[in-house]
Order: sequence, then structure tokens, then C-alpha cells
Amino acid sequence: RRCTLIGARVHEGTGRRGCDMGPSAYRAAGLHEALRDLGLDIRDAGDVPVVPGAARAHPNPAVHDLAAFVAWTAALAEIAYAESKARIPILLGGDHSLSAGTLSGISRRAEREGRPLFVLWLDAHADFHSLDTTTSGNLHGVPLAYATGRPGFAGYLPPPVPIPPGHVCLMGTRSLDPAERAALAGTDLTVHDMRAIDEHGVLALLAPFLGRVARENGRLHVSLDVDFLDPSIAPGVGTTVPGGATFREAHLIMEMLHDSGLVGSLDLVELNPFLDERGRTAIVMADLAASLMGRTVLDRPTRSY
Ligand code: ARG
Ligand code: MN
Ligand code: MN
Ligand code: MN
Repeated sequence: RRCTLIGARVHEGTGRRGCDMGPSAYRAAGLHEALRDLGLDIRDAGDVPVVPGAARAHPNPAVHDLAAFVAWTAALAEIAYAESKARIPILLGGDHSLSAGTLSGISRRAEREGRPLFVLWLDAHADFHSLDTTTSGNLHGVPLAYATGRPGFAGYLPPPVPIPPGHVCLMGTRSLDPAERAALAGTDLTVHDMRAIDEHGVLALLAPFLGRVARENGRLHVSLDVDFLDPSIAPGVGTTVPGGATFREAHLIMEMLHDSGLVGSLDLVELNPFLDERGRTAIVMADLAASLMGRTVLDRPTRSY
């Protein structure tokens, strides 16, 4: 299998600085070497150069750095589309606003291939605000709404090939703003909150989704937000929420994803090295990526779902 690491030093989608150092921290944590040691053909494309245009105003006064969001989305959509033709793009964030770009590039790729695109969103949050409903104005809170074609982005961003909400599965959810909760209630998006994980375990929740992607010959995009993880194992993120996924739950998800053979693209987002402790969050994330790409403890037959 062939993959490409793509650094996306976007930080404008958050309320604090530091995510721009994410790609460097993944490299320092040895992500490239870890994947190479799995026998993958791995290429580092470096960091995507993006220069935001002139400031853009929005009627919602909370919205900030819209011009940066627009520029990053366009640039990352291009590179995600191009790299996903024959390789697995692994986006090294950068805050979660970058997924507006990856998802729009990958959904164009999926359409071109004539395959349905499915999305697994591993996150404490849903990132399902429109530009009109965000109260923080931090645009890392909007990428999933944009990619699923919710209204409110026209005139600012090119319309994406919308991903059907029914093809999206959220896991780890434990912090929703009221407007997101209301918007989610009107869709057929699957939301496995932390309570569902506690009640059923990640295996029972994820297996049916992977089974469906396989049956429909889908392409799967995985977006892994650091804050999906419990802050005790992943402190290097600006939006920690208590009660997150454990190390073992997260690795099992990655192992299941590898076994499924369905993952065509991956975002590693929200790592803030400025808030990290001696690189431990970068290392956990790099280890999770290695699990997803095939690192195992024992040789064992892969499971299918
Ligand atoms: N819902 C909150 C907001 O819109 C938090 C979003 C957190 N998103 C993230 N990608 N960490 O401000
Ligand atoms: Mn997020
Ligand atoms: Mn369908
Ligand atoms: Mn989050």
C-alpha cells in the first residue's frame, strides 16, 4: 500500500495558536519511519503552502479567519483529490477545519470512481455548525456541515460533492452545542456518543458500519481528532473534553479499520504541540496511525465485517 503524508499547518480554525506546529511534531514523533517499517511505500509531500487572501466578512460577527478557511479548503481539496487517485493521503494537521478541504477533494474522487464515500468521524465534537450557527466563530467547528452539503456556505466556498449524511458515522461524541444538536436531530447521520461506547463497546458499534461500507463497495475516510481520546492520554489539544476514548478502545478501532481494508484517506487533526507534554500526544497519534496502517502485536487472520 502506498501513502502520502501531507502537512497542513492550519491553525486559524481554532481560538488559540499551536496547531500549526502539528506536522513537525508528527515528523519528530517518527510517524514516517513507523509507517515505513510496516513495509509501506510512504512519501512525505511536505507542508502545503497556503496564503490566505484578503479578509472576508460574514454576517455572523463571531466568524473569524474566513479567508484562511476558504484558502485552505481550496488548496487541500486539490491535493486530496490528486493524491487519492493511487495513494492514501494522510493529512497531518492542523486544526479540524482542514477536513473541509480533504472531504471535498475525496468526495470528488469518490464520485469520479463511481463509489460511495463514507466518513468515520472520531471526535468529542460533531463539527456540524454552519457559518450562521457557530457561536465561537472557530471554523474547526464547521467542516462536517460543509462536506455534507448543509446550507450556509454558498457564496464563500465552492459547493462540495455533498456526502450523504447517512454515510457519516460519529464516534466518541460528548460535546455538542445546542444548534448542532438540533441540526443532527434532523439528519440520518449515525452518532455513537460516549454512552453508546460504554454500553456496547467500540467493536459492536463499528462492525456494522464497516460491514455496510464493504457491502456497498465504498471508500472510507477517517477523521481522527485528538480530542476523541481521553485527555489523560492525549493532553496536547486545545479542546479537551473529559471522558474520552481509552488507549485500548482507540487502538481496537484502528485495528478494525486496518482489517477492513476500506480506508482510503485519513486526517490526523487538532494536535497542539504547544500544549503537549514531551510529545506524548504526538506519539499516541502516530502509534494509532501505525495501527490503522497495519501494525499488530501478533500475526493473526484479518477479520472482515
Ligand atoms: N462546538 C464547538 C465550537 O464550535 C467546539 C468545536 C470543536 N471542534 C474541534 N474540531 N475541536 O466552537
Ligand atoms: Mn473536531
Ligand atoms: Mn448510499
Ligand atoms: Mn473535537
